[in-house]
Amino acid sequence: MSNSPKDDTTRPAPTGMRKGLTSYGDEGFSLFLRKAFIKGAGYTDAALDRPVIGITSTGSAYNPCHGNMPQLLEALKRGIMLAGGLPMEFPTISLHESFASPTSMYLRNLMSIDTEELVRAQPMDAVVLVGGCDKTVPAQLMGAASAGLPAVQLITGSMLTGSHRSQRVGACTDCRRYWAKFRAQEIDQAEIDDVNDQLVASVGTCSVMGTASTMACIAEVLGMTVPGGATPPAVTSDRMRVAEETGRIAVKVAREKLTIDRILTPQAFENAMRVLLAIGGSTNAIVHLAAIAGRLGLELDLRGLDRLGRETPVLLDLKPTGAHYMEDFHHAGGMATLLRELKPLLHLDALTVTGRTLGEELEAAGPGFAQDVVRTRARPIHPQGSVAVLWGNLAPGGAIIKQSAADPRLMEHEGRAVVFENAADLAARIDDPALDVTADDVLVLKRIGPKGAPGMPEAGYLPIPAKLARQGVKDMLRISDGRMSGTAFGSIVLHVTPEAAIGGPLAWVRNGDRIRVSLARRELALLVSDEELAARRAAEPVAVPTAERGYRKLFLDTVLQADQGVDFDFLAAPKRLGKVPQPK
Ligand code: FES
Repeated sequence: MSNSPKDDTTRPAPTGMRKGLTSYGDEGFSLFLRKAFIKGAGYTDAALDRPVIGITSTGSAYNPCHGNMPQLLEALKRGIMLAGGLPMEFPTISLHESFASPTSMYLRNLMSIDTEELVRAQPMDAVVLVGGCDKTVPAQLMGAASAGLPAVQLITGSMLTGSHRSQRVGACTDCRRYWAKFRAQEIDQAEIDDVNDQLVASVGTCSVMGTASTMACIAEVLGMTVPGGATPPAVTSDRMRVAEETGRIAVKVAREKLTIDRILTPQAFENAMRVLLAIGGSTNAIVHLAAIAGRLGLELDLRGLDRLGRETPVLLDLKPTGAHYMEDFHHAGGMATLLRELKPLLHLDALTVTGRTLGEELEAAGPGFAQDVVRTRARPIHPQGSVAVLWGNLAPGGAIIKQSAADPRLMEHEGRAVVFENAADLAARIDDPALDVTADDVLVLKRIGPKGAPGMPEAGYLPIPAKLARQGVKDMLRISDGRMSGTAFGSIVLHVTPEAAIGGPLAWVRNGDRIRVSLARRELALLVSDEELAARRAAEPVAVPTAERGYRKLFLDTVLQADQGVDFDFLAAPKRLGKVPQPK
């Protein structure tokens, strides 16, 4: 073998175990050593000559949303081996919503770095990203988009629903509903304890259209999963068949060198935004889509998203916007049923990991059948998309409202601000009987944005003050620079940009100020003069949060705002290539 640098240009790019050799200054020795070590695990040369399919394993005792990982990986590896590939499982960070402090969002970018660098560093011809819980799929798609290899997403699948006193329940819209009843003293301690046993009936991701389900649907419409990969529940045979099929497709994308940038195109992102709007998807998915697009040099345009929202009805009757659960969506035909209905609004020529277009896969899925989970466009759940974008002097960079889960009465509203300076202030005073608050007021929470908390926690779902909850108040207008869980509902304005912690106008709102929200005009206005705001800014300058060391320092020094996906500035693609959706 010649070592001449000239020969490198004519040599085919190395594949399989020959890829990305560790640097010892002698390629032949590097490969010899690598094979010697892997043979220690009992591999033969025949196995090591196959296309190598990396598998990001995200099983963790702290992550019951991924509790089916062993069975899933067995089926996936079977599919890879049946197709002639060699599966190579490796661990990455795993994140669960309830086991990550201060919030899983704080660690999403770390998981994306972990995924990107391990995919880059280890020899593989393609990677299967196995994830499910809210931040895992976005982190994996971000990392894989930056690594640039052929990649296929495998979703862990949703949990089954449970039953409380003959009422069907599932995490976590019903978690919030029952907790609100408990706070309002409508149910007692014994009953809330009973509910706690029933909300999560199996392993798997939340059973409503929270962030995990939203990202599963988005991964499928992006073309990153096999057809039908979004909806089978975690513990079903359908889910295992999806895993096996994912293995087969992973070997195919490896052989055909179908890299992720050919799947994640501007057309694919526009399809994803349509689906997000039509499923009543989680507002968090907007942040994640912006981050994934940013890795490919694409900027998610909030004005464009709002335009799509005016044209895209909500069709999926799932909680929290509607009545059903993910397993019902699966029984109703899953994403094919929805996409058939959305067909005129989609780019059907977008390529998927199967090598066929979205339109071809839809044809292959066959005709639909009678069902009551996906509505027709003639009879939508909501005539416009689930999300609207607001602007104004309180949010020059935009703010999000999930209009489909809000009280229409509060969508044209002016009220008095009741201000909480941060999450600790909220916790200390929200249930104080002396709190000066009425149902017509606007609850404002500051400093829960990307830098504020830090990590932009899902604290935007401010609880109704206990004294009002006991009077039967179920909803109020609430505003913050944070996020809320996709499983939550209410008249809640989120992602106010720029955030209070870096001196966004939200920082200067005071108790008693008037705030106006108009969905019709897409307006979020603080009815305070520019002069008065400038005077407040000068009198009380904001101290932007910093840290001395470690990941916290990296986070606070480099995290971007919500409209840019809360990614780290150095992780986004260096060149901007355009906007999604593309301007009309
Ligand atoms: Fe994992 Fe809801 S907590 S998906």
